[in-house]
Amino acid sequence: MLAVWSGGYPVPMKDLFTTKPDRVLIAPSVLAADFGNLSAECRQVLGAGADLLHVDIMDGHFVPNLSMGPAVCAGLRKACPQAFLDVHLMVTNPGDYIEAFKKAGADHLSVHTEVLTPDEARAMAGVIRSHGMTAGLTINPGTDPANLLDSMDAFDLILVMGVMPGFGGQSFMPECLDHVPELRARLRDSQRLEIDGGVGPANAALLVEAGFDVLVAGNSVFGLPPADRADRIESLRCTR
Ligand code: DX5
Ligand code: ZN
Repeated sequence: MLAVWSGGYPVPMKDLFTTKPDRVLIAPSVLAADFGNLSAECRQVLGAGADLLHVDIMDGHFVPNLSMGPAVCAGLRKACPQAFLDVHLMVTNPGDYIEAFKKAGADHLSVHTEVLTPDEARAMAGVIRSHGMTAGLTINPGTDPANLLDSMDAFDLILVMGVMPGFGGQSFMPECLDHVPELRARLRDSQRLEIDGGVGPANAALLVEAGFDVLVAGNSVFGLPPADRADRIESLRCTR
């Protein structure tokens, strides 16, 4: 049984996967920030209580959109030296970018089960870890969970998509919760369970109840005026 984290917030990066945070963690998705004002936006949400910054990388192939690459990640690292950078690789060939994101200051890389066999997923978790980062495995709504269930023990975090990836601001798809009980049954205390897409005040309590301990929130945080974001972040935690 892991110790429950009691050292204050944000949880230091080194303790995120070796203790069990005693509250739900909130990861604002940078995709919904004002890109013309990115460093100020990120510093603002971290000051407002955000625990991690979620950084969405899209290749225009695995998803029908382009977003940002390692250069933006490096800029975020420079602007927010203490932030935990939770990088979500929505790309067909994640292995091609591990090195680049390590150099760009990423703390964590999540890859998609849709582009990997279980053996490839395990190997990729090993490569990500060998670069000193933590590794996540992601599943889209509608994907057969068999491959994920097969390889999830090799990962630090499981990321469940609440929408089909590619765009922020979409409506939550409740069917993404279908496999969560099965998945939770296999989860170790040291593994985090994260949900991404369509998360907001209307469904946060349900998601926390379902067992998620990291909530990604794009528009529901960055869509508010800065002065209102601290209250929103706190309310999304749905203290349990
Ligand atoms: C979807 C991205 C999400 C998205 C979340 O492709 O992976 O992280 O930005 O944004 P909201 O919370 O606005 O749905
Ligand atoms: Zn994401």
